[in-house]
Order: sequence, then C-alpha cells, then structure tokens
Amino acid sequence: MRLLVTGGAGFIGANFVRLTLAERPDVDVTVLDLLTYAGNSASLPEDPRVTLVKGDVADPEVVDSLVRDADAVVHFAAESHNDNSLDEPWPFVHTNIVGTFHLLEAARRHGVRFHHISTDEVFGDLPLGTPERFTPDTPYNPSSPYSSTKAGADLLVRAWVRSFGLEATLSNCSNNYGPYQHVEKFIPRQITTLLDGGRAKLYGAGLNVRDWIHVDDHNRAVWAILERGKIGQTYLIGADGEMDNRTVISTLLEIMGREADDFDHVPDRPGHDLRYAIDASLLRDELGWEPEHRDLRAGLVATVDWYREHEPWWRAQKLETELRYQRLGR
Ligand code: NAD
Ligand code: DAU
Repeated sequence: MRLLVTGGAGFIGANFVRLTLAERPDVDVTVLDLLTYAGNSASLPEDPRVTLVKGDVADPEVVDSLVRDADAVVHFAAESHNDNSLDEPWPFVHTNIVGTFHLLEAARRHGVRFHHISTDEVFGDLPLGTPERFTPDTPYNPSSPYSSTKAGADLLVRAWVRSFGLEATLSNCSNNYGPYQHVEKFIPRQITTLLDGGRAKLYGAGLNVRDWIHVDDHNRAVWAILERGKIGQTYLIGADGEMDNRTVISTLLEIMGREADDFDHVPDRPGHDLRYAIDASLLRDELGWEPEHRDLRAGLVATVDWYREHEPWWRAQKLETELRYQRLGR
C-alpha cells in the first residue's frame, strides 16, 4: 500500500509516519509538505519506505500526480496555530480551504480513498464545569480564523462525499501532546522556556480547559478509521484528558523541580475558547479503539524528558517563536 500523507513533516503527521513505519510493514509513505516554519524534515526518519516531496497542497499539479499514485490520502497539512491565525489569517484560507479543495478534486478524479484530519475547535467552545461534551452531531460554531477554515474544509469533504460519492472519512481530535511538537504550542513552549531558565506564560487567568490526548493515541485512531471506518462518517477522537491550563503549568513546574509561582500571567488570546471536551463513544463502540496513554502526568513527564534530550531539534525554532510572541504581547 502507498499512502500519501500531507503535512507529514509537522507534529502529528511525523508521528503518524513513524508509527506507520513501526507497525505496518506493508505500507510505504509519500509525504507532501511545504516545509513551512512548522514543518521539519528532521522530524521524519531516514528510511527507504519514506519519500518526502516538498510542495504545496494548494498546487493542483503536484497534488494531482501524487494523489494519482496513492492508494489512500491522509490529509494532515494545515496552518494549525490559533495565535498566528489572529495575526495573519490569509495562509489559513490558502492551505486549509484551497489546499483541501485541490486534494478533494484529485481524489475524486482518481477514485482514491481520503481521510481528512480535523479538530474539535470546529464546534466552538463549551461552558466550564458542565458534563456537556462534543459529539458528531454538535453544530459547527468556530471562533477563530484557524477553526473557521478547518470547519470550511470539513464541509467541503462532506459535500464531496454526498455529491460526488468520494470515499472519505473525517476525524475531529482534541489537543495533542508528545514529541516533535513545535515550540509555539502551549506545552512545548512552557517546557522549553523552563529548560532555558525562564518563567512559564499563562494566558489570562488560565481557567481554559483543553482535552489532552497523546499523539500516538490520535494516530492509532486514524488507522482504525482508515481501515474500518464507515465512508462519510465523522469520528471524534479524545481520551478523557480534560485539564485547565493553570493545572498543566503547575504540573510542569512540579515535574521540572521549579517553584509553584514560576509563571507569569500574560494578556489573553482574543476570542479565547473556554473549554473543549470530546465524547469519543462512536470511535470506541464502533471501531473498538481505546487510548493507551491514560495518565496525563506520566505523559507530561515523558514529554519533558523528550524535549530535554532533543534540544538540537527545537533550539532553532525557539528564538524566532519567542520574538513573534513578544511582538504579539504574549
Ligand atoms: P503542524 O503545524 O505541526 O504541522 C503542519 C504541517 O503542514 C507542517 O509540516 C507544514 O509544513 C505543513 N504545511 C503547512 N502548509 C502547507 C501547505 N500549503 N502545503 C503542504 N504542507 C503544508 O500541525 P499539527 O499540530 O501536526 O496538526 C496537523 C493536523 O491535525 C492539522 O490539520 C490540524 O488542524 C489537526 N489537529 C491538530 C491538533 C493539535 O493538537 N495539534 C488537534 C486536532 C487536530
Ligand atoms: O483542540 C485542538 C486544537 O488544539 C488544534 O486544532 C490546534 O491545531 C492546536 O494548536 C490546539 O489549539 P489550542 O489553541 O487549544 O492550543 P495551544 O497550544 O495554542 O494552546 C492551548 C491552551 O493554552 C490555550 O487555552 C491557550 C493557552 N496558552 C497557550 C500558549 C502558547 C497559554 O496559556 N500560554 C501559552 O504560552
């Protein structure tokens, strides 16, 4: 089987490629990635079963030839960071909407199975302290340029299934953590800042809740959907990992042997979503998926160790990222 993985040099895509090589000896992978600031070829293993093509998912010619040669497409490529989308929205429209459009058209032309990776942010946010969770039937209500372009892409996929009979599935996952995540994101930003002797940065009061899942659990769910998912179905992926941001920072400070008050409150993100929470019962009941990483603290310990041991991987991104945050006042 030849799999086309878009965005395979990014955080989740690179972990997906690594997991696939380790567990699927019958699968070869072509990665299509523009290697933006978020992509890093060093996240991919050197392996004859992996071919990296540097290119844009919004370039119809490149996309057509790669999709034609694939048995299935797993579409991770995106502009993925909310703070950047609030600063400069256009690349989000280009990659997330136009890019998805060209991939869908190529998959339609060549009759190729398509799996679209999306986010729980398309549903908007939930109130704090309620048992309410997102389900596949929750109405779309995105807040930011990032989440609205992801929502737009999801709707395109659904339309291509219904109108053109495209063999596609979708998944909407909650916040991932683990190795190879860019240092602009919450958990790696705090870990690398603390490793540098700085203080953690908490947006606003830090009461916002995210539903954390280990990246390998996300990617195993993607494989379950690819192999056994119902065409046209949306699956929500989450591992019951709700935690507020302040508690995540307290846990990291404790793991890293720092004082409990070694953090600063910085100005909040405009339009900041309050809480995400996933009901993954369809994925569990229909496809038999279960998360393997159920202890978030243990997952954070392993993630701290990974960043401690892989400074050459993240060092080049760190200065540029913090300069951007300085400009944004966060
Ligand atoms: P990331 O920013 O780490 O990686 C994105 C990758 O896409 C990078 O390698 C980048 O170079 C590539 N890319 C960007 N624009 C491109 C273009 N025009 N053409 C080709 N490649 C391009 O993102 P991530 O965190 O790995 O997220 C991957 C996917 O998972 C995204 O679709 C995102 O919306 C979704 N998702 C992420 C999370 C999360 O917690 N990170 C949770 C749920 C869903
Ligand atoms: O829910 C899935 C989404 O999770 C994905 O679709 C996105 O691609 C991914 O980036 C992530 O979005 P968030 O905006 O939730 O993640 P981020 O890591 O940017 O921030 C997590 C929380 O931490 C959020 O409430 C903002 C807060 N935060 C973030 C940073 C960078 C801080 O308090 N301090 C920080 O320094």
